[in-house]
Amino acid sequence: MTIRKEQIKTALAHVLHPEKKMDIISLDMIQDIIVQEKYVSFTLEMPTKNDPLAQDLSQRCEGAIHKFIDRDAVVDIQIGINISQQRQTLPPAPEPTASPLSGVKNIIAVASGKGGVGKSTVAVNLAAALVRNGAKVGLLDADIYGPSIPTMFNLFERPDITVQKKLIPLEKYGVKLVSMGFLVDVNQAMVWRGPMVTSAIKQFMNDVEWGELDYMILDLPPGTGDIQLTIVQSVPLSGAVIVSTPQNVALDDVRKGVAMFHKVTVPVLGIIENMAYFCPPDAPDKKYYIFGHGGASRLADELAVPVLGEIPLEQPIRESGDNGKPIVLADHESAAAASFLACSANMQQQLAIRAAQTPKNLSISFMGKSPSAHT
Ligand SMILES: Nc1ncnc2c1ncn2[C@@H]1O[C@H](COP(=O)(O)OP(=O)(O)O)[C@@H](O)[C@H]1O
Ligand SMILES: [Mg+2]
Repeated sequence: MTIRKEQIKTALAHVLHPEKKMDIISLDMIQDIIVQEKYVSFTLEMPTKNDPLAQDLSQRCEGAIHKFIDRDAVVDIQIGINISQQRQTLPPAPEPTASPLSGVKNIIAVASGKGGVGKSTVAVNLAAALVRNGAKVGLLDADIYGPSIPTMFNLFERPDITVQKKLIPLEKYGVKLVSMGFLVDVNQAMVWRGPMVTSAIKQFMNDVEWGELDYMILDLPPGTGDIQLTIVQSVPLSGAVIVSTPQNVALDDVRKGVAMFHKVTVPVLGIIENMAYFCPPDAPDKKYYIFGHGGASRLADELAVPVLGEIPLEQPIRESGDNGKPIVLADHESAAAASFLACSANMQQQLAIRAAQTPKNLSISFMGKSPSAHT
């Protein structure tokens, strides 16, 4: 008996995505079904490379085909990547011009209640992790008063301007970069008032040749005041990540951060707990929770926001920041790099969950296939 494609879809409709609570056919995760007698091949599209759910889902796909169609079918499953677009819609622009951000699929703000918690360290390493996984990434340093992207990428050049007076982002390690630190003397920006800061950020969004990006990471100024609120209102954000350290005071700031994003209906994708624990280099199996333990996950439960991951307190993380190469790229096999890669995978997962929950989202495959709509 020859197997038909429709049978494959019917069988795979029995496989439920454990987090989205929908079947993988409805989620449009199966592409390129090929059947030749008892040989069945298809692509299972996941939101991230090395997605933690990929193996389990493909085993269950194979199981479903053996159970519902043919015990002897030879099942060949490729894992593909499909990054969904999940952006807030802002009111339409007054002029009928194409949005300068129309090529940017996801804009993610990295925020913190206060400075010095590692917001920029997390932002640059998330950007680096996304690039490592094959995505096109931009990083916008919106921390006008304390831009640290130039140092963290060891880049102190001035960007070029096109004839249309658009800024061309600098590029390093495959990340497109724009920072106030490239343009003005930081001491000069220190005296800027709120409206000047927000108009500079708007210019960074609108007057920059960002081109096609899967992700734009926005390193926000620390805090949850008027400046931050105005920025998050004026940018079509897909979601926000909040960085905190384990101390209680820092956790109180997380509440304020979550409240700020709720106010402007931007989904909080999760909390990243930075400097969560210390592993002595001579005893890497030991974890010392210097600033306390469990606070972030308790708060995450209370606020119904996931914890995306814990980042250790480690000298190489600080050194790689100072030396201008994010740890994810400088030592990609280190435990610290693994913790940032896990945070980035979880963040992509959360974006994908939001995309699945929002009807009629445009889903754009970045493996060279044509766009398809989620059902
Ligand atoms: N997990 C970490 N381990 C060691 N040092 C860290 C870690 N996270 C941040 N740092 C260091 O702490 C300082 C502040 O971090 P930064 O990312 O600039 O914070 P923020 O952007 O929140 O002000 C920097 O020197 C940075 O290298
Ligand atoms: Mg910073």
